[in-house]
Amino acid sequence: MCGISGVVGLKDISNALFETIRNLEYRGYDSCGVALLNKNSIVVKKNVGGVEEFYRKENVLRHKSSIGIAHTRWATHGRVTRENTHPHQSCDGKFAVVHNGIISNYRALKESLVRLGHRFESETDTEVIPHLLEENHRKLNNVEAAFVKTLCELEGTFAIAFVSTYHPGQIFCAKRESPLMLGIGDEIKFVGSDFNSFIDYTKNAVIIDDGEYAIVSRDSYMVKNYLTREEVAKPITKIEWDAETSKKGGFPHYMLKEIHEQPQTVTNALDVEDAVLDKVVEGIAQSGQGHLVGVGTTYYVAQFGQYMISSLAGQSLFAVSSDEFAALSNVGRDSFVLALSQSGETYDTLTAVKHAKSRGARTAAVVNVMGSSLSRLADNVVLQGSGPEICVISTKAALAQMVILVRIGLKLALRKNAMTAAAFDRSMSVLRDLPGIIQAVLNERSGFIHRIAHEYFKIKHWLYLGRGVYYPIALESALKMKEVAYVHAEGMPGGFLKHGTLAMIDKDIYSIVFIPPREEKALYEATLHSVEEIRARSGFVLGIHFDERGKNKNLFSEELILPNVSPLIAPLLQLVISQLFAYFTATSLKRDIDKPRSLAKSVTVG
Ligand code: AGP
Repeated sequence: MCGISGVVGLKDISNALFETIRNLEYRGYDSCGVALLNKNSIVVKKNVGGVEEFYRKENVLRHKSSIGIAHTRWATHGRVTRENTHPHQSCDGKFAVVHNGIISNYRALKESLVRLGHRFESETDTEVIPHLLEENHRKLNNVEAAFVKTLCELEGTFAIAFVSTYHPGQIFCAKRESPLMLGIGDEIKFVGSDFNSFIDYTKNAVIIDDGEYAIVSRDSYMVKNYLTREEVAKPITKIEWDAETSKKGGFPHYMLKEIHEQPQTVTNALDVEDAVLDKVVEGIAQSGQGHLVGVGTTYYVAQFGQYMISSLAGQSLFAVSSDEFAALSNVGRDSFVLALSQSGETYDTLTAVKHAKSRGARTAAVVNVMGSSLSRLADNVVLQGSGPEICVISTKAALAQMVILVRIGLKLALRKNAMTAAAFDRSMSVLRDLPGIIQAVLNERSGFIHRIAHEYFKIKHWLYLGRGVYYPIALESALKMKEVAYVHAEGMPGGFLKHGTLAMIDKDIYSIVFIPPREEKALYEATLHSVEEIRARSGFVLGIHFDERGKNKNLFSEELILPNVSPLIAPLLQLVISQLFAYFTATSLKRDIDKPRSLAKSVTVG
């Protein structure tokens, strides 16, 4: 939800600033702006549009400077206009500010600032910050003191960075519940919303914690707590991600690249140390009630985990959407909450975990981004090691989390004697075959999926149906279609169909049905009933199944046949297929694949 970056260096940093903000574009991309310090004045350039479009239109790179800040916006307060684009400036032009988060008391602050004579140019909550800085500086005659006073007056969430003509060699920044880190290079320093921003320049990072502010210059940086004003000794975190994995590497889109990376990300999920997962398993086993929380895709991952853990280990966990967690879940000291988040910065999920902790529950998280807020908040952390996921649509990170949940389910089953050691070993060996099978399916089926996606890309309504663990796969697959192709897709349990939605079946509603392997006899047959119900009403069904012998020839309108695999991995394979189907539908519709409209990679607001 908005990306902020800042660079201060020896020579001209304008190109580095461009690259660092472009690397954050997946966080929001409806408008972009920069502030560059030029001798004793601040040059602000901003406009609507994506980073590259803005830089080209405004010819931004012709402005040279050794210090600057930049912002890429995902609108929350105020429409997508040039006026609402960051940076925002004080009336005297001496402060330029970029911000990610929401200032919840901005109306009251704005009213009192207007009474003091400040003129506002935007509808944003952010604009109160430069005016407060100006006002507090007038009183205190010291930028750092004015910054601290301003921070104490702000309610809500923020990652803030600003430059000021009073200190032309310094970037000031602060954090409360929105991500912020520093990149530490030789004779160059960075401020960024995440590692991706500056990974091309340095792998040394300092993670700013809530309640801290930093003053960064070319040769040094200092971090302090803004309540105590005391300096905080911060460790350097070594970024383990490789800069190359953040690039497209020959693929037309990050989404396709990340789908194709799944054999590797599944391998990485299988390599997560047993000891790390054992702590989670122990937490679930010892709890009175276990909860799985996530939101959007990770809620569907949580639902997948709920089915898997229930069927493998015979233990019921509640899967709850993070945004509903506080309203729905009774957590207490005997509860265990496992949160799932790719970014580790999702406001709703962080809020759910904080709520759980405040009630004395034990917590754990499966997270992709090391150093993220969730990874520092949860009592135990499983780093899934999927590498940077740049496309706004989550693919590889979600699949890797599902694999980790299967491992947790198997371990819990073993721990509870619901499974023999031999059965556990067999299941693990099935899981270890998954990367190779995904690779083969990607190699052999991509062309066919491309063809059928292109044939049906004009269909306006899809029903995605699955039963049992295939139901969350249907939900997640439908979400892929909605967010990348902007096509209406509704996920539903197969058994639900006859309780109402069947009335909708006609020639305009197309269905995709996730059929389990035949060996799951009861589920297989129940799923085929759903297919029959649709076909009896002349509805179209695309069946994704494992019957290589093709016995269902007359049952489906279109079929996508996968190699027959164990039920343990069958739903995961189907998810890969539906990711590709959504991707190719979206390319046929000429959608903006990696940056779909109205979305942002990590939603850091509530
Ligand atoms: C995924 O494709 C979506 N963009 C979105 O639902 C996402 O999964 C959700 O916002 C949660 O994000 P997180 O995993 O970073 O917490």
